Amino acid sequence: MEIIHVSAECYPVAKAGGLGDVVGALPKYLNEAGHIAKVVMPMYRTKFLNDNDWEVVHKGYTNLGSYWFTYTIIKERTNILGFDLYLVDIFGLLDRTMIYGYEDDAQRFTSFQIAVVDWISSWSHRPDVIHVHDHHAGLIPFMVKYCYRYQHLQNIPTVLTIHNAQYQGWMGWDKSSYIPAWDPWKRGMLDWKEMINPLASGVKCAWKVTTVSHSYLDELRVTANGMEALFEYEKGKCVGILNGIDNIVWDPSTDKYINDHYSVKTVEEGKLKNKKLLCETFDLDINKPLIVFIGRLVGEKGADLLPAAIGDSYYYIGRKMNFLILGSGFPQVEIELEHLKSLSQGDYNFYAGYNESLSHLMYAGSDFILMPSRVEPCGLNQMYAMRYGTVPMVRNTGGLRDTVIDYGEAGGYGIRFNNAIVGDITQSIWRAVELYHDSEKMEEIRKQMMELDFSWESSVKQYIDLYKSL
Ligand code: ADP
Ligand code: GLC
Repeated sequence: MEIIHVSAECYPVAKAGGLGDVVGALPKYLNEAGHIAKVVMPMYRTKFLNDNDWEVVHKGYTNLGSYWFTYTIIKERTNILGFDLYLVDIFGLLDRTMIYGYEDDAQRFTSFQIAVVDWISSWSHRPDVIHVHDHHAGLIPFMVKYCYRYQHLQNIPTVLTIHNAQYQGWMGWDKSSYIPAWDPWKRGMLDWKEMINPLASGVKCAWKVTTVSHSYLDELRVTANGMEALFEYEKGKCVGILNGIDNIVWDPSTDKYINDHYSVKTVEEGKLKNKKLLCETFDLDINKPLIVFIGRLVGEKGADLLPAAIGDSYYYIGRKMNFLILGSGFPQVEIELEHLKSLSQGDYNFYAGYNESLSHLMYAGSDFILMPSRVEPCGLNQMYAMRYGTVPMVRNTGGLRDTVIDYGEAGGYGIRFNNAIVGDITQSIWRAVELYHDSEKMEEIRKQMMELDFSWESSVKQYIDLYKSL
């Protein structure tokens, strides 16, 4: 089968979070399973773009309402990622340094989608499946079905994967002319609550919808940022497929971002060496457990609870642990986390920003990773952490619920708590400190986690079965 993935992110080309990791890995494993999976994404101004070799494969001329533009499709020449990678260059709109966060994101991603469909419609053959990811590509199932000029693509099956339903790409109806002329009787297929809602449209029009864990799919029928009723109505075509992790990129015995490699057999010494480096770099105490947080400092991740939870832990439990936070996001949370640095007694630090290599060192050198997420469709951090022998402390939600079993239960290995509130987080920190001092149990759990299989192989099979069913 030939599958074309359409996404706003793909690691290592451009990544803001887990979407990039998934789109950088799934196609590779689909290819390994004998299929042809390709990726098309916007051409941002990234290091990857400058460092690699490209050829122009297509040039087209199309329009976003009354704005006519030329787009160019370039292809990476060497198959360096293990799949064919295509970038869409639209002068002035996509060729920017950031992925998201511009005022004209609606124009940017709509023109991206138009260029992609335009390009596919110029192919001399048809792909077997168009697989779109999140709202940035959510209008494509509609376009393929209902835009007059793409009628010849109508029979191509489309799959939408929802990585995060919090973001839906809402646009006012004043922007309806952006979408190439479409059957006006199908207005309802774009609309959700009097807005053009690309994610809702994708759910309505895609042949199949997947979410990145089973529990998240169940939760969406109850809480989906206003789209609950739609998920209830469309449940027949929705299926949860848990993400995998790329075991080649995320392997403590070969990881290119760390110097001290280790395996299950050498986990104790290996982690200690990495912890030493972290503690020296960030002025932390190597004799205390190291609890880290890596991620976007936003409400979904429960990041706003961190300052109070850290403060309360020091107050109620004592200065028995280190904290190291890596991330950026809400300015107020950054300010509070920055402020805590001035109160550190060699047991707290915060790195504001995005740093891929530091994140790898943190998975390797920390003892625990804290994820007090309010919403977590899948979560990759906990799976990376476990592969590196780091114990996840997670809220019982979404993909965290599907991947972490509390060590108090039979066969368990992580720490789970029910509510995204300061009290529950503080209690989980207390449990982490207790566990850390039971060195035998700690070693047993580390080894157990490192042997768990979160590889893509089984998830890829489920995607292949899904494609075949279409
Ligand atoms: P989400 O996609 O919702 O942000 P995931 O757990 O699926 O959450 O994936 C997050 C990915 O982004 C992981 O690969 C994580 O290591 C990475 N990441 C998040 N924040 C940072 C950061 N500040 N620096 C480096 N990597 C980060
Ligand atoms: C989203 C979700 C995250 C998930 C990732 C990859 O960003 O927030 O939970 O792991 O997508 O699917």
